[in-house]
Amino acid sequence: MIKLGIPMLKSSYPLLEAGKLNVDYVVYYGQAGLENLKKVAQHGKPIYIHDLASSFWLNYVDPFKPDVMDEARAMLDIAQSPWLSTGIGASAEPQAHRDGPYREADADQLQSRETVTENIIAHGRRLQEFAGIPLLLENFNYHPTNAYEYICEPGLFSFLIDQIGCGVLLDLAHARISAHNMGWPDSRTYLEAMPLNKIREVHITRPGWQGDQMVDLHQPLQADDFDLLGFVLDHAPVEAVTIELDDTDEQTFLDQINIMRSYLAARA
Ligand SMILES: [Fe+2]
Repeated sequence: MIKLGIPMLKSSYPLLEAGKLNVDYVVYYGQAGLENLKKVAQHGKPIYIHDLASSFWLNYVDPFKPDVMDEARAMLDIAQSPWLSTGIGASAEPQAHRDGPYREADADQLQSRETVTENIIAHGRRLQEFAGIPLLLENFNYHPTNAYEYICEPGLFSFLIDQIGCGVLLDLAHARISAHNMGWPDSRTYLEAMPLNKIREVHITRPGWQGDQMVDLHQPLQADDFDLLGFVLDHAPVEAVTIELDDTDEQTFLDQINIMRSYLAARA
């Protein structure tokens, strides 16, 4: 049976505290730090660590800062996560969220394809060795903002995963966004070019729109969002599905969990 999880956020933590979360695990964003993780760990739910500190990017020249890695080690020790997941990397150093729901960088901060490829392979291997547990790298959502060049191409993504020797966290919203914003015929064609056989976890939410760009708004799922999930589950050895909602009201979390529970049970 595929496991089901949601992220720990300001609005989902009270549900965990109240014992109302009918999920198999919670996803803990490393950016939220060690002290908050200790609170979450008290409640006994399995914890999957996703991302390290916000300064950690595999494409950067040196993401392995001692303080970041010390905290990462402490978080992994507490969480006993079955795997560590983080983004495949970006294409600029630095890059950050500015105005929109995506990352941006200036043109002179854009790295070359060679630099991005070399850094991600070397650092991905080092991160997997550091973690001592499987590493899953997550695909990203393409926008023409200098932050997402090269890495959203299924060919390069597959090459990086292969060279690092790690697994895949497929963010289905990111894949749909990249397929649309990069001009692929449709999401399914894009997904078919991704390394489906290496996917162990899926992140799923409903994307939104900003003009003619699809954007990652982490909205609640609707019925038609399950079609692509079904395709992925039919073609990939998925072990866990995370409904990666942003902060929302408690009832929405509970409803979305129930809908996904029923969906996964019907497929089992
Ligand atoms: Fe994600």
